[in-house]
Amino acid sequence: MNKIKTNYTCQGCGAQYSKWQGQCNKCQSWNSIQEEIVNTARKKHSNTFSSINKKNSNPQKINNIEITDHYRIITNDNEFDRVIGGGIVPGSLILLGGEPGIGKSTLFLQISLMLSNKVLYVSGEESEAQIKMRADRVKYNNENCYILTENKMENIFHQVKKIKPEVLIIDSIQTLNSQLVDASAGSISQLRTCTSELINFAKITSIPVLLIGHINKEGHIAGPKILEHMVDTVLQFEGDRNHFYRILRAKKNRFGSTNELGIYEMLNEGLKQIKNPSEILISNSNQKLSGSAISAAVEGSRPFMIEVQALVSSAVYGTPQRSSTGFNAKRLNMLLAVLEKRVGFKLGMKDIFLNITGGIKVEDTAIDLAIVSAILSSNNEIKIPEDYCFAAEIGLSGEIRPVQRIEQRIKEAEKLGFSKIFISKFSDKLTAKKIKVVALSKIDELIDHIT
Ligand code: TYD
Ligand code: MG
Repeated sequence: MNKIKTNYTCQGCGAQYSKWQGQCNKCQSWNSIQEEIVNTARKKHSNTFSSINKKNSNPQKINNIEITDHYRIITNDNEFDRVIGGGIVPGSLILLGGEPGIGKSTLFLQISLMLSNKVLYVSGEESEAQIKMRADRVKYNNENCYILTENKMENIFHQVKKIKPEVLIIDSIQTLNSQLVDASAGSISQLRTCTSELINFAKITSIPVLLIGHINKEGHIAGPKILEHMVDTVLQFEGDRNHFYRILRAKKNRFGSTNELGIYEMLNEGLKQIKNPSEILISNSNQKLSGSAISAAVEGSRPFMIEVQALVSSAVYGTPQRSSTGFNAKRLNMLLAVLEKRVGFKLGMKDIFLNITGGIKVEDTAIDLAIVSAILSSNNEIKIPEDYCFAAEIGLSGEIRPVQRIEQRIKEAEKLGFSKIFISKFSDKLTAKKIKVVALSKIDELIDHIT
């Protein structure tokens, strides 16, 4: 006899209650608790992968553990490989999140076609014909790429046993349905069950699973945080949908660093890897106008030059506007306060717009100095020579602070033909041949150089 149990689960944090209530005690969110029916009796009779292949594990001495699967599967997509730490680790689970339409399905389909291994791409969202149309646009081909449109876990495992892929791709985790729980696809119970079944599957077979996850309106991967805790790697695909550039970042990575950045361009033929980001992140016009400054930024292990544009104009309405694209708005306000307090610039009645070219979000604080320079340049209507670049952080008292990997930044600037780079006086002493290194200690000194 089936035992039916009703659970009330918070869709935000996954907390469970025996009866419904308006607010979740754990995460304090309102109206997030939903009824979910769990069919406990079915568990015993289920034929999912984990139950058939159950093997008991025994403790082993760490020195006796042999690493048989130490190789990584190289996807041939250099950007992706670098972000995940040098290829896919067998038996790992990789979760990719991002806004709708940003290109998650395109990225994973492209990777399926670039791999030289046997791949099973399972889609619960699109039909075979739709996937084929997309695959035709992307100019790669993999004879051993199988497409399955299915959302039942049991059927997927059945097909996996038949096809025996080396990589399994699931688009998306929210469409999966396991018969172990009666809740609807995308609910917390389903997400949790399907993910743990996939983890079991990956660990037993050493087949890596690449998952696509939807994000909610706050920008987090839909479902409770446990999804992110369960998988090995969480990737985020971001970028401005109106721009062509896409950034791939690792938010969590058990097998590599989380600093690496992958840059792609969305073209008609799919996603193109950007090997030299500096070329695209500096606008091409020969005649630079006031309000533009270039920063030598570093994300992960890769340095690149990025252009910052600022527009400072008199505020038409009472409250001045502050708008920032690609840069943390709070940090912009902080930099403006520093400018006002330490250098005496009256920016209180000015509208300030800031834009990082390419619609890319930069987290490197070394772009502070370029931002301040761009704002001053626009405010004073004075052009910054186009072969100047900047790399330093700004502190609250207006001091110019050193940043990591300064040597790499200077080398990149030198390589790209910049004549002067402004850095912090407190950076390591560096010698460069072709580029002049200007070391500053206070923000006031910057004014003498660029105005
Ligand atoms: P998609 O991968 O479906 O996004 P997601 O899975 O994240 O929702 O990508 C959708 C967008 O990508 C769509 O607006 C069209 C665009 N696109 C291209 O510009 N070129 C291409 O070759 C492909 C396949 C998609
Ligand atoms: Mg999709």
